[in-house]
Amino acid sequence: MALIIDGNAISKQIRDGIKCEIEGLRHKFGRGPGLAVILVGDNPASQLYVGRKSKACSEVGIYSEVKKFPGEISESVLIDLIEELNRDKTIDGILVQLPLPEHINEHRIMEAISPQKDVDGLNPVNIGNLVLNCATLVPCTAAGIIELIQRSVKEIKGKHSVIIGRSNIVGKPTALMLLHHHSTVTICHSRTKNLNEIAKQADILVAALGRPKFITRDMVKEGVIAIDVGINRVDGKLWGDFDFEGVKEVASAITPVPGGVGPMTVAMLLKNTLLAYKSNYKIFP
Ligand SMILES: NC(=O)c1ccc[n+]([C@@H]2O[C@H](COP(=O)([O-])OP(=O)(O)OC[C@H]3O[C@@H](n4cnc5c(N)ncnc54)[C@H](OP(=O)(O)O)[C@@H]3O)[C@@H](O)[C@H]2O)c1
Repeated sequence: MALIIDGNAISKQIRDGIKCEIEGLRHKFGRGPGLAVILVGDNPASQLYVGRKSKACSEVGIYSEVKKFPGEISESVLIDLIEELNRDKTIDGILVQLPLPEHINEHRIMEAISPQKDVDGLNPVNIGNLVLNCATLVPCTAAGIIELIQRSVKEIKGKHSVIIGRSNIVGKPTALMLLHHHSTVTICHSRTKNLNEIAKQADILVAALGRPKFITRDMVKEGVIAIDVGINRVDGKLWGDFDFEGVKEVASAITPVPGGVGPMTVAMLLKNTLLAYKSNYKIFP
């Protein structure tokens, strides 16, 4: 039977550590970290995630403000707001909740966020630093996946990691981070021809495709470490990309949905906000 990797418990340890550190730093610098979250439109999932992020901020002592805009907002108005936040000395981190409406160019928005305040790690400068393996602010879900693996099953070095999904937000940064941890990495996507064959070679299999129960028991190797990023709502219930019940019978470790990668993404956002605040005071990791 697989180890069920408890993302809630691991994220709590991280959040407790962050809270403690912020208390000390607030005393020293007279203020705690500040995060601005920009929410465009009325996507219910986005509203839910933003609510969770704000709550998590207040629990660890990060000041957060949510700036809500109707879906019709223009790109230039949004960029003006980001530039204002870039100049705001009380705001250390800026997060634009994705996805954005189609008329807004996501790349230009990410580019507008100051790299020092880019707590989602999606500004091209931070992505470039990630490629060079010298990034401080890295995409939260990818960072959370690495933490989960290191804190539960430990060794990444030498393992073959297969990532299914190549998005800028999850698949690509996760692949890069696993590579920097000396894993041998294969990335699969919707045009991959022999997906089942490749998935079966994985020591670490990261599913980030957004297809409920897509990865079944017969697609994985015995002893696989199964990391489920997928969040799929079907008939009001949440499912991951793995067929959890089947895969857990053969995996050595598996993350549940919910309670696996999701809480880690939030914990890494808090960590990045703290890192951005500390670098304002010239405290570098
Ligand atoms: N737990 C968390 O904190 C968290 C954070 C972010 C996202 N998520 C969830 O993770 C999932 C992925 O998110 P995302 O933003 O990366 O999604 P995305 O941008 O839609 O990317 C999905 C990726 O999966 C690939 N794909 C889709 N169907 C496939 C198939 N049948 N076989 C092989 N590859 C396939 C796509 O290939 P192409 O590139 O060829 O189209 C694409 O690269 C979603 O369920 C999302 O809700 C969870």
